[in-house]
Amino acid sequence: MKALILSGGRGTRLRPLTYTGAKQLVPVANQPILWYGIEAIAAAGITDIGIIISPETGPEIQAQTGDGSRFGVRITYILQPRPEGLAHAVKIAQPFLGDAPFIMYLGDNLIEDSLGQFLSKFSQQDLDALILLRAVPNPTAFGVARVDEQGCLLQLVEKPAVPPSNLALVGVYFFNSTIHQAIAQIQPSARGELEITDAIQVLIDRQASVQAMQLSGWWLDTGKKDDLLEANRTILDSKLTPRIETAVDARSQILGRVRIGPGTKLIDCCVRGPAIIGANCHLENCFIGPHSSIADGVTIIGTDIDDSVILQNAKIINIPQRIVDSVIGQRACLAIAPRRPKALRFMVGDDCQIDLML
Ligand code: TTP
Repeated sequence: MKALILSGGRGTRLRPLTYTGAKQLVPVANQPILWYGIEAIAAAGITDIGIIISPETGPEIQAQTGDGSRFGVRITYILQPRPEGLAHAVKIAQPFLGDAPFIMYLGDNLIEDSLGQFLSKFSQQDLDALILLRAVPNPTAFGVARVDEQGCLLQLVEKPAVPPSNLALVGVYFFNSTIHQAIAQIQPSARGELEITDAIQVLIDRQASVQAMQLSGWWLDTGKKDDLLEANRTILDSKLTPRIETAVDARSQILGRVRIGPGTKLIDCCVRGPAIIGANCHLENCFIGPHSSIADGVTIIGTDIDDSVILQNAKIINIPQRIVDSVIGQRACLAIAPRRPKALRFMVGDDCQIDLML
């Protein structure tokens, strides 16, 4: 059994962060999203992992993630020259996959359920494909499945106007080598991509054994800002183990589950968990509220923050209103200049979004 993680793509919905970096490396609770997938695959006992990368963000993914030894797995990087679809990614990974059955895992997805139970069903029943589903309130935004009472998959429809069920296709799939023949038969869709849903439909139409199972825990697709914040909240709620690795001054208060990395200075601050603060940060006279993830090297002075993800080396100084529901990129600087209190001065990159609720 092998695994294929798809970590290329355009990432247009997470601009501007994705102009300068891979969306799969954006941290959730201070760990790149991609690494949660690698950990889940390693926990299922799979050690041979291929990662699809793009020419733009591949080198950064490779540099940060390495050869897999830190996860106890072996990683092979596979370059997809252009993001021509999920099935195209499988096609170019064929030399790596050979005839092996494999898990296909979208590198920006996170699921709570462990993969072991699904892997057992897929292997024991010798299935051609096993698809994971999750009930969602807004099925028109997803690939949606029609299944019979035995869990056999009957039909897949991409973003249907009239959904046949409320069961969305989760970004984790199990395939044996018959998927390669199915992919060889499909043509690019209207949006110009080789769609994995079309390849699975070919398997269904050929009466291959394609089954579906529903997740019982959460599923998070971190492709957009609000989804990323939701993932951050969920991971902090469910996985954060508190640990304080720095000295906290007598005027500071730590409440609830909080993790703080080494070398971080806290001066006259209140941190209310669940929250994580990385290493070598400088936090002074501020309130860090629940569901905040502050990466390494961040400076926050005279500012209150809630429910936000702050990336490495950002600086936030003397912002009078509380910052909420925000994602602040690496090295970004938000400051109120002391001499011009009534003016707002910006140097904002393309596709940024600033909502001032004054
Ligand atoms: P998507 O989120 O569907 O696509 P995208 O990354 O291009 O994002 P956007 O729609 O915001 O532009 O992709 C799901 C995952 O699969 C993600 O980790 C990127 C990856 N992917 C590839 O590796 N190759 C591809 O050709 C495509 C389309 C996606």
